[in-house]
Amino acid sequence: MIPYNSSSGQMLVVCLYSVYNSRLKVTAMPILDEHMLDFVSHSPAQTHRLGTRMGLLLRAGDIVCLEGELGTGKTHLAQGIGHGMGIVGPITSPTFTLIAEYRPPKPAPTLYHIDMYRLGDAVDEALALGLDDYLGGDGVCVIEWADRIVPALPPDRIWISLSHLDLSKRGIVMTASGARYDDLLREFRRTAFGI
Ligand SMILES: Nc1ncnc2c1ncn2[C@@H]1O[C@H](COP(=O)(O)OP(=O)(O)OP(=O)(O)O)[C@@H](O)[C@H]1O
Ligand SMILES: [Mg+2]
Repeated sequence: MIPYNSSSGQMLVVCLYSVYNSRLKVTAMPILDEHMLDFVSHSPAQTHRLGTRMGLLLRAGDIVCLEGELGTGKTHLAQGIGHGMGIVGPITSPTFTLIAEYRPPKPAPTLYHIDMYRLGDAVDEALALGLDDYLGGDGVCVIEWADRIVPALPPDRIWISLSHLDLSKRGIVMTASGARYDDLLREFRRTAFGI
């Protein structure tokens, strides 16, 4: 890991040398501020592993919002999160069911895997589905297409934007809002990247 201060002193650039898929990869990671983390996933398996790292850190009441075009890897990340939370068995895309519930062995919290893609008037329908009862309740909510229901979401959350870079690379930007999510992001940065 090589920290580097730009001439303006505004941006700290950290080069991460990490072994992914048994190959050495170098990821340039600008730390814009302490509430954000910006990195590149080089494969579906890596996105899953990063999700697992996060799943290990999640607690009852946590809200993880996923945003990104079709096929950017939201479900892969959610599956990794479920794995990290101790869910045994497959986690499938809830595109048609809207909300899928997974109960890991006690005492871990339940995972609510929510997908807002198919909702018409997204906010009203989400509220009609009882979304409020899930958010901040006894489980962890992982919400795909969260950008469709922003007004229905609490201000404190972790927001994860995924984007296509090329066939196998995805840009992932995590933004924490609120003290709990600052802590979560700090811990994720430490356990996933060692910084
Ligand atoms: N680095 C990567 N991370 C995640 N998925 C990747 C990556 N590179 C390629 N892929 C591929 O992109 C697709 C991602 O599928 P996934 O269902 O996770 O996306 P999604 O964002 O949930 O899509 P949707 O909006 O349809 O729900 C898969 O086919 C996967 O193999
Ligand atoms: Mg999906």
